[in-house]
Amino acid sequence: MENAIVRVRNVYKSFGEEHKILNGVNLDIEEGRITAVIGKSGTGKSVLLKNIIGILKPDSGEIFFRDSDITKMNKEELLEIRKNIGYLFQDAALFDFMSVEDNIKFPLVEQLGMKNGKELSARVAELLELVGLPGTEKKFPSELSGGMRKRVGLARAIAVKPRIVLFDEPTTGLDPILAESIDALIDMVNKELNMTCVVISHDIASVFRHADKVALLYDGVIQFCGTPDEALASNHEVMKHFISNSFRGIGG
Ligand SMILES: Nc1ncnc2c1ncn2[C@@H]1O[C@H](COP(=O)(O)OP(=O)(O)OP(=O)(O)O)[C@@H](O)[C@H]1O
Ligand SMILES: [Mg+2]
Repeated sequence: MENAIVRVRNVYKSFGEEHKILNGVNLDIEEGRITAVIGKSGTGKSVLLKNIIGILKPDSGEIFFRDSDITKMNKEELLEIRKNIGYLFQDAALFDFMSVEDNIKFPLVEQLGMKNGKELSARVAELLELVGLPGTEKKFPSELSGGMRKRVGLARAIAVKPRIVLFDEPTTGLDPILAESIDALIDMVNKELNMTCVVISHDIASVFRHADKVALLYDGVIQFCGTPDEALASNHEVMKHFISNSFRGIGG
């Protein structure tokens, strides 16, 4: 695909001999779009994302960020590439021993080398404003609700102005109204900040509401990738099964 920002090519990943997780994954992430990755629990969605960001290395296959194969990179090259990739962990993992402010400053200092205290504070304030949590700098993660923690995680993920942001189940565990507000934030990140978004989700209704592309991971491969309309109209057995189960509320 011409305008793919990330291209996953024939990626295999197993843990030990028996535990084959990814079995030849191919996926193009279109620049400027929201791509949703769906699939049942334990199928390897988080593992796939961790391979894309370089936390895990595939056993074989390539992962291109633009023209560079990140699987062939050394540590320094990978750190450089990572400035382009934001990541919201599945549990919105914040550093519990750090204030909200310090959590968000972390990538600014570590990845961008920002040192000026005033500039850092201004950027943190701007990010907190953006995610709807102005003035929460001094709070600690333990003082925040789950939804607020996800927002702080989101602020941290976009802090260095990456070109692409990967969200691992950003709405899981939130009530529907909070989930919608996180979806709206992701739309804002995509449309106003012009960042490419990849969203892993169990929430099929949300996926169909705002994703441009839906990719289904099943049995270690991307079984289907297309627009939500194409997914709904698809005759692909696994996709059909996944959709009907999900809308009955027993999928995931
Ligand atoms: N570092 C690891 N070492 C060994 N096994 C792992 C590791 N990371 C993941 N796995 C295994 O890989 C499989 C896929 O895990 P993964 O977390 O990617 O699933 P998932 O699709 O994200 O599920 P969920 O929807 O529940 O988050 C699981 O069986 C998991 O136990
Ligand atoms: Mg996961």
